[in-house]
Amino acid sequence: MSTSNGLFLTFEGIDGSGKSTQARLLADRLRARGHDVVLTREPGGSPGAEEIRRLVLEGDPDRWSAETEILLFTAARRDHLERTILPALAAGKVVICDRFADSTRMYQGLSRGDLRAVVDQLHALLIGREPDMTILIDMDPETGLSRAKGRQGTEERFEDFGVDLQHKMRAGFQALAREFANRFQTIDGNRPLGDVAQDVEARVLKALA
Ligand code: ADP
Ligand code: TYD
Repeated sequence: MSTSNGLFLTFEGIDGSGKSTQARLLADRLRARGHDVVLTREPGGSPGAEEIRRLVLEGDPDRWSAETEILLFTAARRDHLERTILPALAAGKVVICDRFADSTRMYQGLSRGDLRAVVDQLHALLIGREPDMTILIDMDPETGLSRAKGRQGTEERFEDFGVDLQHKMRAGFQALAREFANRFQTIDGNRPLGDVAQDVEARVLKALA
C-alpha cells in the first residue's frame, strides 16, 4: 500500500467509552488549529463499508460466527482504506478514525475463542497498515454499557453480548496497549467530557509537533 505523509489517529475502547464524542471534539480542535481533518469510523467510512456495517451491527448476536465476522469487518476495512483513509493520508491530512483493526483483534479475536492469529494473518495480507497513534479510552464496563444502551439505536448486536464481554474487551484492550506500546496512549475515560478531551488534545499535539 502507498506511503503517506498525513497522520493516522484511531480511537479504541469498549462500547460507550466516549470514542465517538472524543473523536468529534478532537476533529473540531484540530480544525480550529488549521489542520485538514477527515473524521471517519469503522465499520463504515465509505459507501460500501457502510452497507457492510448494517449487516454486522444489526440483528441477533448469533447472526454470524466470529470467523464470518472477521471476513466482513476486513472487507469493510479494505474498502474504507482504499477509498477514504489512504487518499486522505496521501494528501497530507489528519485522519481520525473511530475504531480500526484493534477492534477486530478484540471483538472477533477474543470474544468467542482465540482467533487472534486469524485476524492478524488476514490483516497482514489485506490491510497492512497500523495507525500512527491509537488513543485507548479506558472505562469501567458497567458505566460504558449503560451509556451505550442509553443511545437506544438498532446497532446493538455487540452490546447484546452483555457486560461480561465488555469486561473481557477492557482487559484485552489494556493488554493490546502494552503489546503495541509504541503507538498506544491510554486515557482515563471515567472523567467529565472536557477533561478527557483536554488530555486527548495534549497527547495528539505532542505527536504533531
Ligand atoms: P462510544 O463511541 O465509545 O460508544 P459515545 O461517544 O457514543 O461512546 O458516548 C456514549 C454516550 O456517553 C453518549 O451519550 C455520550 O454523550 C456520553 N458520554 C461520552 N463521554 C462522556 C463522559 N466523559 N461523561 C459522561 N457521558 C459521556
Ligand atoms: P461502534 O459504532 O464504534 O459502537 P460503540 O459506539 O458502541 O462503541 O461499533 C459498533 C460495534 O462494532 C462495537 O460493538 C464493536 C464492533 N466492532 C467489531 O466487533 N469489530 C470491528 O472490527 C469493529 C470496527 C467494530
